[in-house]
Amino acid sequence: MPTSFSRREWIRKSALGLAGAACAQRVTATLASETPLASPISPKDPAWSQIQQAFVVDRDVVALNHAGAGCAPRVVLDAVDRYVREAERMPSWNLFQYGPKEPIRASLAGMFGCGSEEIAIVRNATEALDTVLLGLPLQPGDEVLTTTLDYWAMLDALDQREKRDGIVVRKVRMPVPANSEGQLFEAFAEAVTERTKLILVSHPVNLTGQHFPVARICKMAHARGIEVLVDAAQSFGQYEITAELLQCDYLGASLHKWLMGPKGTGMLYVKRDKIKKIWPLFPSGNAMKPDNIRKFELKGTAPMTEYALTEAISFHQAIGTALIGERLKFLTRSWADPLRAHDRFEFRTSFAPGMSNAIATFHLRGTNSAELWERLFHKEKFFTFNVARRTQEFQGIRVSVGLSTTEAEIDRFVTTMLRLAKELPVGG
Ligand SMILES: Cc1ncc(COP(=O)(O)O)c(C=O)c1O
Repeated sequence: MPTSFSRREWIRKSALGLAGAACAQRVTATLASETPLASPISPKDPAWSQIQQAFVVDRDVVALNHAGAGCAPRVVLDAVDRYVREAERMPSWNLFQYGPKEPIRASLAGMFGCGSEEIAIVRNATEALDTVLLGLPLQPGDEVLTTTLDYWAMLDALDQREKRDGIVVRKVRMPVPANSEGQLFEAFAEAVTERTKLILVSHPVNLTGQHFPVARICKMAHARGIEVLVDAAQSFGQYEITAELLQCDYLGASLHKWLMGPKGTGMLYVKRDKIKKIWPLFPSGNAMKPDNIRKFELKGTAPMTEYALTEAISFHQAIGTALIGERLKFLTRSWADPLRAHDRFEFRTSFAPGMSNAIATFHLRGTNSAELWERLFHKEKFFTFNVARRTQEFQGIRVSVGLSTTEAEIDRFVTTMLRLAKELPVGG
């Protein structure tokens, strides 16, 4: 297993699925030095069509729900297969080694700009976030502040804690779409009370792709002695976020979404001096010291598939977070702008600078989003997400593109939606 990411190593592995000599040459030329990637290809460059071929996605239905689960490139799938096979050669030894995990921890810490001893590699964002939501010592009457737009599983964890431990969970209803980040900040600032101990905030919200001003919220919270847990399931790998930029105390992220890692991988960041007080989900008192971040990783026997994060990080870093973010934004605007120009489409997402990126949600006025989702999937062959499954506040279809998405797929989606806007009766 490589101990650190190397661009040359990645290029050597170009057989990984970046088919095509043109792309290989371009990538080789731009990555031949070990210098940081200086945006070698624009978000519109035809070289993206080669990168799309690194993925083995079905093309008969267009995948427009990358926020649900990202597509891992072939190099990651091959690595998963290899690690599973390697483990089976001596499972009772291989499965319980920590060594191979450490370079991955260091790479993730490098990406997030924190210490390696502040990163735990867990199975998903839910596990990461639940570790803090269920493991932070709280007294009956203590308040946790969040929004009604936060991810359902996190809200369920808080509801359970309310019933079990007598804490108070306050879910603020936010404007959709928000006019400004200031409006979102004010909603949090006004809802804080003397009993608030923790704020859970998404960056961004899964239902609409709306960004929240996390750093501002953290500053306000810290001034009042309140800690902040960031749900970065939808941002890590899509934006350049760091511990310094966000200023949060805790953060949970999926690594199988925008980092395009193997399924069943997530990351927990806990600020060094807070590790000790958080109870792990799986007690590990005799195996790990309370201030060791690895106490959050003990879970019993599990497959070694997480080691394929090495290949995912290499793939991701070879393109670079900034360029990935730009490409996703370009694809998003390519479908959203033509719909925004049509008066039957209403958007739940703000497109003001910095307010959203690869996720956007629209409503086709006069339709029911469950029915529209069915139609899009079964008849028109687009797989999207009906947000009304998870909120009663509004109807909408969430569209989230990925690196495997092609321009032709986006064009077909736009043509289909404009046709449906003519065809589907209002109220029918
Ligand atoms: C905002 C948000 N938080 C948490 C999760 C859960 O992520 P995971 O499936 O990695 O547990 C999701 C999944 O879509 C999400 O969108």
